[in-house]
Amino acid sequence: MKQEIPPTNKPITLDNHWMPFTPNRDFKANPRLMVKASGMYYWSQAGQPILDASAGLFCCAAGHCRPEIAAAISQQAQTLDYVPHFQSAHPTSFTLAEKLATILPSGLDRIFFTNSGSESIDTAIKIAIAYFQAKGQGTRQRFISRERAYHGVNIGGTALGGMTNNRRIYGGVGLAQVAHLRHTWLADNKFTLGQPEQGKELAEDLQRFVTLYGAENIAACVVEPIAGSTGTLVPPKGYLERLREICDQHSILLIFDEVITGFGRTGNAFGTDSFGVKPDMMTLAKALTNGAVPMGAVAVKREIHDTIINHAPAGAMEFFHGYTYSGHPLACAAAHAALDIYQQENLFERAGNLSAYFLTTVFNSLRDLPIITDIRGYGMMASFDLAPAESVGLRGAELQKRLFWAGMHLKTTGDAGIIAPALIAEKSHIDEICQRLRDVIQQF
Ligand SMILES: Cc1ncc(COP(=O)(O)O)c(C=O)c1O
Repeated sequence: MKQEIPPTNKPITLDNHWMPFTPNRDFKANPRLMVKASGMYYWSQAGQPILDASAGLFCCAAGHCRPEIAAAISQQAQTLDYVPHFQSAHPTSFTLAEKLATILPSGLDRIFFTNSGSESIDTAIKIAIAYFQAKGQGTRQRFISRERAYHGVNIGGTALGGMTNNRRIYGGVGLAQVAHLRHTWLADNKFTLGQPEQGKELAEDLQRFVTLYGAENIAACVVEPIAGSTGTLVPPKGYLERLREICDQHSILLIFDEVITGFGRTGNAFGTDSFGVKPDMMTLAKALTNGAVPMGAVAVKREIHDTIINHAPAGAMEFFHGYTYSGHPLACAAAHAALDIYQQENLFERAGNLSAYFLTTVFNSLRDLPIITDIRGYGMMASFDLAPAESVGLRGAELQKRLFWAGMHLKTTGDAGIIAPALIAEKSHIDEICQRLRDVIQQF
């Protein structure tokens, strides 16, 4: 399967690009560069195929370099490259919003476009605040999120986030008024596939915050249906339902961050469909364009949208927010093509059908390795924890590197590995992923 990669004639210097979420010095001493992708594979600069076990960063649900998406982007770039979305527009963003509304939960059909998950979260925060201002409840400024959450890296998302290293040096900036629910990982639930039986009571933290801060001061509760980046923390049975109940009792908005769980990852279009709990807003990104062009979106309940819109005097701008690239034509073209593929290939349903095989194979392949301290999973996403080495995260980072040199890409966070292949994966790919993981982990 070795592929010919056009040789790089010019040696490249790695100094200028300051890489995100990367130990730069370590990477640049021994760079892992990918130069090509197709389907389930990347190819390294040396021509080595790299099986993609995490759909990039959970973006490429339909596999890499889909010709339909490439053609749509190319055609759009040659027809209409850019339109300012402030007080002018192009039809494709409207048709895309309409298409998205057909797969979103009923009523969550007002769509604000952004360029990333981080921007979607900050946009949702502003929408929540604007909504309560419009309703004459401007004291509702506090947000409730959760430990071990990842909501991106913008200022709002950093404040909501519950991963220590992402927050600790930025304590002085961002939203002051955030309180964090306890995370839902429980030692008693180790090695559970699917939703754990225990832990629903953790949702009562929200009730405690209502008592402590007063519902009249709380705007929204923001959670990922499954905490993805910290290693597939699947919500205990009844947990999301209880959050919904408490939000309803106190008129607090429930926002689901579906940046990872959206577009088939849980075996349905969205996590909300899999868990049967409907939020008031949803943040989206990643697989919205199959990762081909940066794009995010916030799906907003019609009542929230209408309240903000109708509050403004006729002719006035209703919501003071937007990005130069909101609804960019290339992103819209890519998203249209991606959603078409998802529909034509029944990828969400396919993910649901493949899930049992995927989860069982992960479990059976890794369960007996002494270094593995937990395995969790739901839909087409599973995680395992490695016993930490001298310091937390070293072993996870080392695993990611060793896997790359062994021909596989896996997203790791700390000492957790997150397996989330493209939804086009065949059983043979799953077998291969698990075999390689086992082989490499065994060498630790
Ligand atoms: C749940 C969740 N929200 C938000 C984000 C941020 O998205 P982005 O990196 O596109 O800004 C991520 C990224 O992994 C995520 O997993």
